[in-house]
Amino acid sequence: MTQLSAAQTTPSDGSKALYGGKGTRRITVRDIALAKERGEKWPMLTAYDAMTASVFDEAGIPVMLVGDSAGNCHLGYDTTVPVTLDEMTVLSAAVVRGTKRALIVGDLPFGSYQEGPVQALRSATRLVKEAGVGAVKLEGGERSHEQIRLLVESGIPVMAHIGLTPQSVNAMGYRVQGRGEEAAAQLLRDAKAVQDAGAFAVVLELVPAELAAEVTRVLHIPTVGIGAGPETDAQVLVWTDMMGLTGGRVPKFVKKYADLRTVMGDAARAFAEDVVGGTFPLEEHSVH
Ligand code: KIV
Repeated sequence: MTQLSAAQTTPSDGSKALYGGKGTRRITVRDIALAKERGEKWPMLTAYDAMTASVFDEAGIPVMLVGDSAGNCHLGYDTTVPVTLDEMTVLSAAVVRGTKRALIVGDLPFGSYQEGPVQALRSATRLVKEAGVGAVKLEGGERSHEQIRLLVESGIPVMAHIGLTPQSVNAMGYRVQGRGEEAAAQLLRDAKAVQDAGAFAVVLELVPAELAAEVTRVLHIPTVGIGAGPETDAQVLVWTDMMGLTGGRVPKFVKKYADLRTVMGDAARAFAEDVVGGTFPLEEHSVH
């Protein structure tokens, strides 16, 4: 690929980095490309509502994904499969409203792009026009390259997603992808196909760390790992998993940075006990 000069790789708003930079304008896909040139790693979190997104924005998270993991983590479905484009549009719009700096990537849900490029363009256009996202994400490598190409040609930046693709859970289950020679070769073909189609980044989900490292070396677009080892350019986690809000089991690759489920449960019980015991509200909480 064309090498960029140092001046070209310095963020145009004077900030130093995607994370920790000082700029207040929205991060763009060009900033993401420049970060790869600088060899800079960056974090991405999912978000599904305005208030949570504003916390992550203030924390400096440069890219937020309104993932269809909202199905499991926000909307109460068992998988991502039932999530609709209407639901993704509402959630994406809320996250855009809650943020000032982060690049917001809206996920195209199952059934909103598999028919072909024209359906994909119609669906992505809704997320861009109605929700205001700066980019969309869709699943699939070679099988989705025509959709990616048309969206990119139409001016919609696309983040691709290969490896484990949860929308295909009924066909592939939740298993590590890319193990073995043939599967690894397919994953590399998928990675190159989405890059050639114009994707600005690619999520690698649940693939062996060595393979993810190789894909990261080979591609000139950034790789975003989830369960893909330490060598990818960026890392993404589902926020409810990494902050300990998700009930039940979370995948082995998740690091738990907080225990919000306990914090929130304790707060709810303390409130309930105050109400039942008559110690809330007190005079200081009352108006006259
Ligand atoms: O929907 C989602 O949250 C995702 C991430 C796990 C990458 O696709």
